[in-house]
Amino acid sequence: MQNEHTPILTVRELSRNYPEPEKNRLFSRAMNHAVQRVSFELYRGETLGIVGESGCGKSTVARMVMGLEKPDAGSVFFHDTRIDQLPERSLRSLRPRFQMVFQDSGSSLNGRKRVVDILREPMLYHRIVAKDKVDARIDALLDMVGLSPSAKLRYPHEFSGGQRQRICIAKALSLDPELIILDEPVSALDVSVQAQILNLLRDLQEKLGVSYLFIGHGLGAVHYISHRIAVMYRGRIVETGDSQELFRHPVHPYTRALLDAAPLADYDARNRERIVLRGEIGHTDWTEGCAFRRRCPYATSQCAHASCTMTAAGRPGHLSVCMAGTQERGE
Ligand SMILES: Nc1ncnc2c1ncn2[C@@H]1O[C@H](COP(=O)(O)OP(=O)(O)OP(=O)(O)O)[C@@H](O)[C@H]1O
Ligand code: SF4
Ligand SMILES: [Mg+2]
Repeated sequence: MQNEHTPILTVRELSRNYPEPEKNRLFSRAMNHAVQRVSFELYRGETLGIVGESGCGKSTVARMVMGLEKPDAGSVFFHDTRIDQLPERSLRSLRPRFQMVFQDSGSSLNGRKRVVDILREPMLYHRIVAKDKVDARIDALLDMVGLSPSAKLRYPHEFSGGQRQRICIAKALSLDPELIILDEPVSALDVSVQAQILNLLRDLQEKLGVSYLFIGHGLGAVHYISHRIAVMYRGRIVETGDSQELFRHPVHPYTRALLDAAPLADYDARNRERIVLRGEIGHTDWTEGCAFRRRCPYATSQCAHASCTMTAAGRPGHLSVCMAGTQERGE
């Protein structure tokens, strides 16, 4: 039985390892721990932002949620249905209900098809509308994403990046999804166009009640659009909480470093020193302790053996694997 307090998406202890390419010789066991024991829920009409540096595992999480890649461990539930183990045919029938929008709108759209065909074919295949109603539905979708009806007769290369991303959003919406996974949908766009697309996504959510899993590497866009945020570092969620709470009271040093890297209008860093990230994220040779310890200004010898389990960090739902980021404020 579902109600508004039941998640539409439940991810539990999701993990994915890849063999390290350069060390992938016979008998070598070097692995890239791309995603490690990631858990979260997403509710109807909500946006959960996933943020972290390049290579921290965000897209791997997205691909596993979409069923495009199998996890090594853990589970993904869409409502009550466990989807990570479903055979392709059963997954296909569920797919209209969760859709994905990628960063690269150019390669997401078939360049040899006009917009009308790009939008029409999936709707007819999944029997979303009757044949005689499909054209009216296409006009309505284009209007919904801020494009004129004449856009349907053009090819993807005839649009700007921002307009193409609007077409991708229309394509995702065309199947009436409950969930859209947005993997860096604005990262390739100019700042002013980014704002337009983020506002469009917010308006559509308000109108349709759709849920978003919004992936980004900068806290600006993620904070703007998300109700809750999960901060990922080297395959793990290190801090999660309400977007405002995390923004005002970050407790993990890595979250603070992300905020310091992109100071935002109402971010208050007055009472503390900035944390500047140095070095690369890396993935291998990490089996124990805190994965952030080589870059953390507060690291001690104990951090090499820290258990890094999520602990309450303030308001309900605010959890972190480390509280050291609050040090100078005496919290
Ligand atoms: N198919 C694959 N085979 C081998 N390694 C992979 C594969 N896909 C991802 N990886 C590795 O897993 C790690 C996480 O990759 P992922 O693409 O999920 O990161 P990301 O956070 O989305 O990064 P970005 O912000 O650059 O998109 C990286 O080290 C990447 O090299
Ligand atoms: S456990 Fe140690 S190294 Fe890791 S974030 Fe906390 S203080 Fe820094
Ligand atoms: Mg990615």
